Amino acid sequence: MSHILISGGSRGIGAATAKLFAGKGHNVTYFFKNAPVLQGERITPVQCDVTDPLSVADSVGKACDNYGRVEVLISNAGISYTGLATDFDFKDYRMIMDTNFGGLFNLTSEIIPSMVHNGSGVILAVSSMWGQTGASCEALYSATKGAVDSYVKSLAKELGPSGIRVNAVSPGVIDTDMMSEYTDSDKTALADDTPLGRLGTPDDIAQTLYFLSGSRASFITGQIIGVNGGFLA
Ligand code: NAI
Repeated sequence: MSHILISGGSRGIGAATAKLFAGKGHNVTYFFKNAPVLQGERITPVQCDVTDPLSVADSVGKACDNYGRVEVLISNAGISYTGLATDFDFKDYRMIMDTNFGGLFNLTSEIIPSMVHNGSGVILAVSSMWGQTGASCEALYSATKGAVDSYVKSLAKELGPSGIRVNAVSPGVIDTDMMSEYTDSDKTALADDTPLGRLGTPDDIAQTLYFLSGSRASFITGQIIGVNGGFLA
């Protein structure tokens, strides 16, 4: 049984992941920003704003007081903005960068020392296929996820000798609240553009995170694993 810490666990991909790990017998702490809507056995919510290093430090402390050191960190919390590159200002840039990349930076900065001390650990980031290929009308979002991918590859090289694996899961189009701006016909068009003919589910991503966290993935590090139904090949 391990202690899994996941950010943005109250809904969507994070909630599916929290439920999967807890169902497999692990202790799960999830960070929520607004409301601890997900409840369950072996699942403990802790309030945290991942953009704020002091909030992250305080919340990681509470999580460790409850379940002991974090063995698997999943940086999942994220936001997206859709619009022309010129629609956004510096404040928007700071908010999305501080959440999508800053969240990963703040969480890893807090947790890496204990993983190094113990000579083991797994760090997983939920990125996006747009970070690999770039998306029109999601330029800022794509850039934040490109930063996530580079950081993951770099951390894997830096932390491999300490027995710590670092990977990213790079989802395609997943049907969650993040897609709420899309109409049903937009979603049908996106499914039609996907070789496997459907949108992804939160569980598609949760299952991949679960695999990457375990011993069957013990020789996998520094990888950006696409889970996108063939949208990006
Ligand atoms: P969602 O909008 O349902 O969930 C995002 C979660 O992050 C929410 O629980 C939200 O409260 C939390 N969050 C946002 N800002 C936060 C902050 N400052 N501090 C703490 N928590 C915060 O979206 P979804 O789809 O479950 O997204 C999860 C991850 O998957 C994100 O990183 C997203 O970029 C990524 N992703 C999603 C895709 C999709 O099509 N849904 C595609 C590719 C990547």
